[in-house]
Amino acid sequence: MKAQRSQDLSYRIAFRMIRAVHDGWLIHKLVDPVELLRTLGVKHGDHVLEIGCGPGFYTVGASAAVGSDGIVYAFDINLYAIRYLRTKLNKLDITNVVAEDRNANESGLPDNSVDFAFLFGVPRVAGGIDQLIQETIRVLKSNGILAVGAERGRASSVVQTLLDKGLTLRETKKRYHLFVNTISAANVG
Ligand SMILES: C[S@@+](CC[C@H](N)C(=O)[O-])C[C@H]1O[C@@H](n2cnc3c(N)ncnc32)[C@H](O)[C@@H]1O
Repeated sequence: MKAQRSQDLSYRIAFRMIRAVHDGWLIHKLVDPVELLRTLGVKHGDHVLEIGCGPGFYTVGASAAVGSDGIVYAFDINLYAIRYLRTKLNKLDITNVVAEDRNANESGLPDNSVDFAFLFGVPRVAGGIDQLIQETIRVLKSNGILAVGAERGRASSVVQTLLDKGLTLRETKKRYHLFVNTISAANVG
């Protein structure tokens, strides 16, 4: 009970800090998330998976980029982030986003169902990067894209892990690595 309360408090504090940076005025001034996601390859009608959505700065952009025929799955382990995001989606009348407090390592999405997945600004993946990549490969369609932010300090090790898992690095655009799923889901073990 005490441990649960202290974990809850740490999620609450973590979210306040994340929100200040990842949904603050500066990011809104500097980045146009719709344009960014379109440039990286998100298309109208796509099924998109956002891993670690936090307060949803990119979620709203992804929603606009896929349009009414598409869908965005926005997952975060932090319940405070998801509550905040759901309120934001309601206010903006956005209906093509499924926001869940869920570990993306166990997404619950069907095999081969996602056109584009992205991992931006997640320096520490809960449950480990290896399992996350395995799960992302499972849900990505063949030739689906995984876009990973090339954040300082983690870029090379994450790229290597993704290459080791069999993804193909197509290009690096605007400081984002674009990997293609060239592995069929049936081969993932
Ligand atoms: C620093 S925030 C970034 C939020 C958002 N991606 C952005 O750039 O605006 C990182 C988020 O990833 C979440 N996270 C970390 N590991 C996760 C996992 N395995 N599944 C889902 N969310 C995760 C954290 O809870 C946190 O809210």
